[in-house]
Amino acid sequence: MASINLKNLKVEAKKGIEKADNLKDLDEIFRKYLGKKGKITLIFNSLKKLPLNKRKKLGREANLVKIGLEKLIREKTQKFKEEIRAESLGKEKIDITRPGKKVKIGHLHPLTLVQREVEEIFQSMGFSVITGPEVETEWYNFDALNIPKDHPARDMWDTFWLRQNESKNQKSKIKNNGLLLRTHTSPVQVRYMEKHNPPLRIIVPGRCFRHEATDASHEIQFYQLEGLVVDKNISAANFRAIIEEFLKRFLKTDIEIRLRPSFFPFTEPSFEIDVRRKKGKWVEMMGAGMVHPNVFKAAGLIPNAPAGGWQGFAFGAGLDRLAMLKYKINDIRLFYSGDLRFLKQF
Ligand code: FA5
Repeated sequence: MASINLKNLKVEAKKGIEKADNLKDLDEIFRKYLGKKGKITLIFNSLKKLPLNKRKKLGREANLVKIGLEKLIREKTQKFKEEIRAESLGKEKIDITRPGKKVKIGHLHPLTLVQREVEEIFQSMGFSVITGPEVETEWYNFDALNIPKDHPARDMWDTFWLRQNESKNQKSKIKNNGLLLRTHTSPVQVRYMEKHNPPLRIIVPGRCFRHEATDASHEIQFYQLEGLVVDKNISAANFRAIIEEFLKRFLKTDIEIRLRPSFFPFTEPSFEIDVRRKKGKWVEMMGAGMVHPNVFKAAGLIPNAPAGGWQGFAFGAGLDRLAMLKYKINDIRLFYSGDLRFLKQF
């Protein structure tokens, strides 16, 4: 009885497998006959109730049927899987002759490009590139640069204050706890000379902040390039030679420079340097001068005479202004506008 049943099941299952159209059908057939509650599985489960000889015979037959059906299902499953794979490969065919889709990548900001170029030129002239903090103490930004409190010179720069000094004692960097956004890169002169003995040659590129109205040549944040050269016999003539060489290499065009007498508390004498392309408009490019003895003192160095003392020149140029001159840009605000039409030109 069970044996006839087994034969019928075999025929029935085979037909089912032949008719199956997809993997789902095959899965159903598997479950119907060979799954946990499958018809053939139930025959196996009923074997233990049979006498030994019948059990052996039917067990063997059932096993053969099971192996046969499993094989058929496996083969057909394989066939379906291959068909599916072939179909999806056909759909995903890659046309290697199609023009590629360009990945959009950004590039460096023009001010970064200019900064790097400037650094390279100065490095080739033996300068080291140094940086300093943007949040500066009142001491380094003003006092150490020979700009005493209540001195009108302090009004040269409109300052973003973070904390007003609470002490009346301006002579000490410990007692003066005023904090601000640096108005220039000159404080790094003192920071550097406190830790390094001359001879020295550094440039300090960096961001500065001034609380002033913006216009085509003024921003509230901008970049400066500080320069400092200290040695035994440094003169203003050395300064002029270096700055001319730098501008020639940087602008790669004929330019004129003009030194005007000026005033900075931390240099003596002081001058202002204007630059123009041939017959163009003069642009105020940098302040400069011979380092004031009080600045050397604030940094713990012995200024010029007597023998063994130091002298040097310093300058502070507007990096934005240099970039404007190089690329003929007429408004500084373009650098900070985030306007892609402008930025993409570099
Ligand atoms: C100074 O800041 C001095 N620390 C420069 C200096 C250094 C003098 C060392 C002597 C020795 P001044 O305020 O002039 O000086 O600024 C220097 C340059 O920074 C200017 O010539 C200009 O190119 C640039 N600059 C100043 N203010 C702005 C601003 N608001 N926007 C853009 N560039 C500016």
